[in-house]
Amino acid sequence: MTLSLSAKAKGIAPSPTLAIDSKTKALIAAGADIVNLSVGEPDFPTPAQASLAGIAAIVNNFTKYTDASGIVELRRGIADKLRDENGLDYAPEEIIVSSGAKQSLYNIFVAILDPGDEVLLPAPYWVSYPEQIRLADGVPVVLETTEATGFKVTAQQVEQAITPKTKAVLLNSPSNPTGAMYSKDEIVALAEVIERHDLFVISDEIYERLTYGQEHYSIARVSLGLRDRTFVVNGFSKTHAMTGWRVGYVAAPQHLVKAMASFQSHTTANPSSISQKAALGALGTFDPATVTQFRARRDAVLEAFSRLPGLTCASPDGAFYVFPNVGAWLGQTYTGLDGSSVTVQTVDHLCELLLTDALVATVPGTGFGAPWNLRMSYATSMEALQKGLTRMTAFFGRFS
Ligand SMILES: Cc1ncc(COP(=O)(O)O)c(C=O)c1O
Repeated sequence: MTLSLSAKAKGIAPSPTLAIDSKTKALIAAGADIVNLSVGEPDFPTPAQASLAGIAAIVNNFTKYTDASGIVELRRGIADKLRDENGLDYAPEEIIVSSGAKQSLYNIFVAILDPGDEVLLPAPYWVSYPEQIRLADGVPVVLETTEATGFKVTAQQVEQAITPKTKAVLLNSPSNPTGAMYSKDEIVALAEVIERHDLFVISDEIYERLTYGQEHYSIARVSLGLRDRTFVVNGFSKTHAMTGWRVGYVAAPQHLVKAMASFQSHTTANPSSISQKAALGALGTFDPATVTQFRARRDAVLEAFSRLPGLTCASPDGAFYVFPNVGAWLGQTYTGLDGSSVTVQTVDHLCELLLTDALVATVPGTGFGAPWNLRMSYATSMEALQKGLTRMTAFFGRFS
């Protein structure tokens, strides 16, 4: 008898961003001087108020099960934040806290998708969306966008992709990996189509505070009709440099939150009690100087890229990634430091060479639905960034 894995398990690829991160860390552990521009996490420390609240939770033995949806003080604090910072009105009962926004998103897909239900997913997309949708028996329907359209879908594009099976539209503004942001007018236009076709919206707003021009506008703000069908997804990982604490949340009408809460109560139950207290401590501590630093780093990258003929890169309005198009080098010959030449056919191969030959870790765009791009994070020190850019410039100079 051969015991086999489920079709579901066999169909899931590991997260390519985490895969490249572990490969990079292994090289670093082996002594390689890698500049790691692959990671999607801020280099800033967790705010002291959060860490101290976490320590106090341990010392005070706040280490037991909590309400499976998160402690009410934290949900109240999140409701206040959504009201004060985002103009959104939610009661604590309309908020569920999970072990990272990653879990929040999976809860949503399980709560709303029946087998074969379609989710409209603008590409380039964050790597976990299509895998999570498939895990929940849904079908990701990819809507292509290009650099020329600012990596944004139009209302018309969404409307044309709608079928009787369409259940939801996923929006991620600012976007990982492109940094693209929808303006209020664009959000309102999308909202009109979404409401007319009676669809859910999953609005992943995890980078909402990291913006470099226009302000983030949540689709849940457009009207009560939109609020009724929107899952607002957010978390503490990116804006509070708390990736390892694993705290994310969703705000949505109570009946939707209840469905997610039932599922979560049988899977992980509450997120870590300690992390919840830390998140409570983090509320209100966002430092706008973070944005100033990220903007300076973004500008340094764009400036270096502007001197690389062949490379094109849209200027991101938010998040902490750039997503340059490196298509001009695909099919070209690369001569390595050891003098050997090789034709580089794919962005995966290019990123592999960039890592092993130039010692710069980036992520190929393939997993984001963009096989001509690579993702580079600028959530690292300016010094490391400059070192990485110098190496990249030399690397691209070795193509002919
Ligand atoms: C767009 C987007 N959504 C959600 C997440 C998940 O964040 P976490 O699970 O750390 O809260 C990430 C993390 O990379 C992300 O980039």
